[in-house]
Amino acid sequence: MKKGSGLDGAQAAVSFMEESGSFNCGRGACLTAEGKVELDGAVMWGKGLAGAGVGSVTCTYSPVSLARWVMENTEHVLIGGERCADYARLAGMRIENVQPSKSSWAKFLVLKKEKSHAKALEMVRKLNMGETVGAVAVGSDGIPAAAVSTGGRWLKLPGRVGDSAILGAGIFADSRTGAACATGTGEEIIKCALSFKACEYMRETSGPEAARKAVGFVTKTRGRDTAGIITIDIRGRVGASFNTEAMGRAWYDQGKGRAVAKIR
Ligand code: GLY
Repeated sequence: MKKGSGLDGAQAAVSFMEESGSFNCGRGACLTAEGKVELDGAVMWGKGLAGAGVGSVTCTYSPVSLARWVMENTEHVLIGGERCADYARLAGMRIENVQPSKSSWAKFLVLKKEKSHAKALEMVRKLNMGETVGAVAVGSDGIPAAAVSTGGRWLKLPGRVGDSAILGAGIFADSRTGAACATGTGEEIIKCALSFKACEYMRETSGPEAARKAVGFVTKTRGRDTAGIITIDIRGRVGASFNTEAMGRAWYDQGKGRAVAKIR
């Protein structure tokens, strides 16, 4: 970023996507097996490994904003469940009774028609109904940051918390290396500590190469169709890699002086 902190930038990008209703996060989130919305999110700032996540949130469409408050106002790195509403109130956030969007509810009804849970999950996979959102940025101070937000997995068990609430799994930032943010099957991403791994690779290599190596690792150990990752190293080199058919992504290209977006 030419001006301002990477954390503000990454959080602003994710908040915009939470509010848009177009992704699996915030107002557009996927639904649990009971047809409810439960959101996860996190922020991390490379200086001093500051960060926090929130899991299974039902009181706000913006878990990323609540995670930022937890990071700045508590000594904890993970808060979950109903009591999140107490902290959202303390943060001065509007308390919502989060509800499924019309489009998520329509998808849920289609999935629920499928008697076999395994077949319903196969339908989710084929339709590529994932779309966790995340952003990474290096601030004008040179400090990398990341932010992430998600509804998690379609038809997840109530109370399930995924990688996007967990530092090191769905998100990581370290001022010595860079920042990373993952999307995909949370359980596999957690087992691989994927975002931490990508940042560790950046000790030796660039952001783009670290993204490729991290996805290579998850593909080798957990299989294809499991994850994607975006990275930025402290020199501002952005990377993206995935082992799924597609992963929507966009970045500011300094050479071209404009934003670039890609899906495949
Ligand atoms: N990557 C989002 C989730 O599995 O919760």
